[in-house]
Amino acid sequence: MNSVVREKAITLAWTGASGAPYGLRLLHCLLAADYQVYLLISSAARVVLATEHGLQLSAAPEKAHRTLVEHFQCRDEQLIVCGKEDWFSPVASGSSAPKQMVVCPCSAGSVASIAYGMSDNLIERAADVVIKERGQLLLVVRESPFSTVHLENMLKLSQAGVTIMPAAPGFYHQPQSIEDLIDFMVARILDHLGIEQTVVPRWGYQA
Ligand SMILES: Cc1cc2nc3c(=O)[nH]c(=O)nc-3n(C[C@H](O)[C@H](O)[C@H](O)COP(=O)(O)O)c2cc1C
Repeated sequence: MNSVVREKAITLAWTGASGAPYGLRLLHCLLAADYQVYLLISSAARVVLATEHGLQLSAAPEKAHRTLVEHFQCRDEQLIVCGKEDWFSPVASGSSAPKQMVVCPCSAGSVASIAYGMSDNLIERAADVVIKERGQLLLVVRESPFSTVHLENMLKLSQAGVTIMPAAPGFYHQPQSIEDLIDFMVARILDHLGIEQTVVPRWGYQA
């Protein structure tokens, strides 16, 4: 693997909250923007992907990589799928991890683990690294209703500089389809990351 950290590199984690289509669409946009994406997929996320999108992903990173490269028609090296305990991955260390990370969708369970710095799997460790390095971490959380425990965990993370971005699309762009609702969230995420997007016009700039 190339030891130089690419400027346009980002870590994306899919966890087991409902909203797999957000994660898929976000990955599509990041690849289209020519980002190199370190993709981390929890076991529960694979169940949700199969349930919500019919996409069966192997637990073996190489096989999941092959499936996704074919699905998105991207270059092999643009997508790096990391294993759950791949502690030698660049995302596991502050010396090499991309400065930006998005967990989308993000389960309440992952919120809790990240809030308490558990670092028990690569998703939790990568998030912990971004927080300690004072990078940009976005959690696209999906649960309803939120319990006091969820809210306290999110407050703790927000106070540590993490952006809590609930998967709660707006309706003021008059969505005509589920894809429009998905794009609303993905556009907001890309805006926060500072990645130019034409998915949904910014408020006030609509023709
Ligand atoms: C189809 C499906 C949908 C789920 N939706 C949610 C959800 O919206 N929010 C949530 O916090 N957990 C949800 N869960 C439960 C989580 O997947 C579960 O708590 C899991 O342990 C989270 O682990 P992870 O964060 O490592 O992916 C869902 C599970 C399944 C199978």
